[in-house]
Amino acid sequence: MDSADVRDDLDHVLYTEAQIMARLREIGAQIDADYAGRELLLVGVLNGAVMVMSDLARAMRSHMQMDWMAVSSYGAATKSSGVVRILKDLSCDIRGRDVLIVEDIVDTGLTLNYLLDNLRGREPASVEIMAMFRKPDALRVDVPVKYLGFDIPPEFVVGYGLDYAQRYRNLRDVATLAPHVYN
Ligand code: PRP
Repeated sequence: MDSADVRDDLDHVLYTEAQIMARLREIGAQIDADYAGRELLLVGVLNGAVMVMSDLARAMRSHMQMDWMAVSSYGAATKSSGVVRILKDLSCDIRGRDVLIVEDIVDTGLTLNYLLDNLRGREPASVEIMAMFRKPDALRVDVPVKYLGFDIPPEFVVGYGLDYAQRYRNLRDVATLAPHVYN
């Protein structure tokens, strides 16, 4: 889906597909250099991270493996607790592995804060975070993002895996949503 296909639903494009891909090539090269000689396990957080996982993995030139987790907050009222429910756990044992969590967005940081803690408990050799987008103004906990695509303003953004009511994940660009869509 292109921005033109849903022009009336969007306010403005923040990052185009080309800008996202260019940034991912830089991050992929940095990861290749940082983990030279080690085979990284990329852990994607469903559903939003599907697009960035796919493109980041292909931007890398070294061997890698991938696995997935699905998590969900315990409802709006308790989201502030930072406790998330694991809907789908990893298929592999990460003990002794170099792990890189791959996320589409860090908003409050609560999801990644929990995941980082959870995965560290499984005794990997290392665990780091790659996030395509981050909203610095929305952060409630400090999350150590090693590889970041872009910081964005605290607006309602969709595309490149980010949804509104499960839609717009397949939008190639990342754009702010027009208020009439969510009002
Ligand atoms: C989004 C995103 C992160 C999380 C970030 O997932 O993919 O996992 O929210 O928010 P936080 O920093 O405030 O914890 P969401 O729960 O919307 O599910 P999705 O990936 O299926 O869209």
